[in-house]
Amino acid sequence: MAKLRLGVLASGRGSNLQAIIDNIEAGKLDAEVAVVISDKPAAYALERARNHGIPDKYINPGEFPGKAEYEKSIVECLKENRVELVVLAGYMRLVGKVLLEAYTNRIMNIHPALLPSFPGTHGQRDAVEYGVRFSGCTVHFVDSGMDTGPIILQAVVPVMQDDDEDTLAARILQEEHKVYSQAIQLCAEGKLTLEGRKVRIGG
Ligand code: GAR
Repeated sequence: MAKLRLGVLASGRGSNLQAIIDNIEAGKLDAEVAVVISDKPAAYALERARNHGIPDKYINPGEFPGKAEYEKSIVECLKENRVELVVLAGYMRLVGKVLLEAYTNRIMNIHPALLPSFPGTHGQRDAVEYGVRFSGCTVHFVDSGMDTGPIILQAVVPVMQDDDEDTLAARILQEEHKVYSQAIQLCAEGKLTLEGRKVRIGG
């Protein structure tokens, strides 16, 4: 059977991308990373792609008059590589209309908090500062809001008394590396169905 073709968008170090690649190579995830795209030229995610013979592309948002044109170029690249599922892995931009319309309900994101708590760019720091006892990560479909789309999977970790942003982030990251591949595998198996804003997981 043909493997689900992933297009990974990443802005930074790409450890989630690496976990996905490793799970694919270990035969635990029936998918293929068709292309890795970054909005940052120095993103280590691009190098990780090259290390595994995966096509990589830097698309400079500053080269376009606006978000729509920038995203048109992303969509072109995704289509050229016959991407079926877009995977945001530390992509630090809000997805706009053009990308959402091209891949409706076919964009996943991972967020380092238990949504709907602590959306935005500092999920781990916000959880530590609030004083919650548990945090974790959330894989969700992307809609037009900031971390508001239908939730696919979550994993929980305890918050320790002496945690700071970095120690909590490291504990959460270990779970991110497992749960993202699990969510993608469910999608590859055709087991995710949207019912309103709820995701049903089933055979
Ligand atoms: C991850 O912790 C991911 O959940 C987070 O950025 C990190 C990227 O790490 N994403 C967000 O905060 C999105 N709002 P990585 O580049 O090593 O995968």
